Amino acid sequence: MSERIFSGIQPTGRKHLGNYIGAITQYVAGQDRGEAIYCVVDLHAISVPYDASALQSSVYDVAAVLLAAGLDPERCLFFRQSDVQEHTELTWLLSSVTAYGDLTRMHQFKEKSASQRELVSAALLYYPVLMAADVLAYRAREVPVGDDQRQHVELMRDIAERFNARFGETLVVPEHRIPEVGARIMDLQMPERKMSTTGGTPQGTVLVLDAPNTVLKKFRSAVTDSGTEVRRAPDKPGVSNLIEILSAVTRRTPEAVEAEFDGSGYGAFKTAVGEAVIEYLTPVRERYHELRSDEAELERMFALGADKARAIAGETLADVRTAMGFRAVRAGQ
Ligand code: TRP
Repeated sequence: MSERIFSGIQPTGRKHLGNYIGAITQYVAGQDRGEAIYCVVDLHAISVPYDASALQSSVYDVAAVLLAAGLDPERCLFFRQSDVQEHTELTWLLSSVTAYGDLTRMHQFKEKSASQRELVSAALLYYPVLMAADVLAYRAREVPVGDDQRQHVELMRDIAERFNARFGETLVVPEHRIPEVGARIMDLQMPERKMSTTGGTPQGTVLVLDAPNTVLKKFRSAVTDSGTEVRRAPDKPGVSNLIEILSAVTRRTPEAVEAEFDGSGYGAFKTAVGEAVIEYLTPVRERYHELRSDEAELERMFALGADKARAIAGETLADVRTAMGFRAVRAGQ
């Protein structure tokens, strides 16, 4: 049997090159490797202050980016989390086998609650339980997410194990899968930090939807060092990052990139990386605009996805409800 893969994607269209190389290309590749299930996690978005009137627009933005990148609803299951009520119901049921102390110890909760100047909501604490429900509802085995999500995946394993021990073998214990390539694309201005739309510099963050001249400008002003050599070294984080980027977008080894730019100087090298990234992102940007302009079509796609998702999640929910002593299905269903 092929592996069932599940990942959730935050609803924001401001995806950057690091997201694209590290995560989005992996989602696309997952379609050929196993039974891939991808979900736009709009319910997670409400755990921090957000603009309700912009939420659905952000969902469309990210959906169009993913489809433009090559997600194909014929070859994967792609849906919107809030369309499938099983996720919220399972969150509550799983909370009974989730340790409160574990939730308060999650890095992401500690960081986000400390930096939150408005309300620290219970939803922020519950975020990892909803994430566990996302994956466990589909009995997925593999969870391809970044290293920052490792603790959340550990927690969902604990939840599944505790459920099975308490109520009988019902849930699949999932595994973390960290993508090997391009997992660490760094900020172009602060190459010791990961590229990020929240923690990085705007000038050092290349967005998937940036116009070509913006991309070029960002690469031309990338921080390097006082040397001249194009090679990877611990004391050359800026140049090392540019080598990694060029290697990822042209699908060559870093060694081949180093050999090609040996002796050519940083100016020419930075321009070459910028141009390669433009060539890599242009088809995606063009398809994005086409797809994003037809919201009715995106809604049709989501409706089909939600039907398929409910068929799978509904079965798990019936098993979970029965194991926990409830009637298998809710009254009226
Ligand atoms: N928390 C994940 C992130 O920030 C997003 C997410 C939500 C997710 N539900 C998921 C990832 C289920 C994997 C599986 O990236």
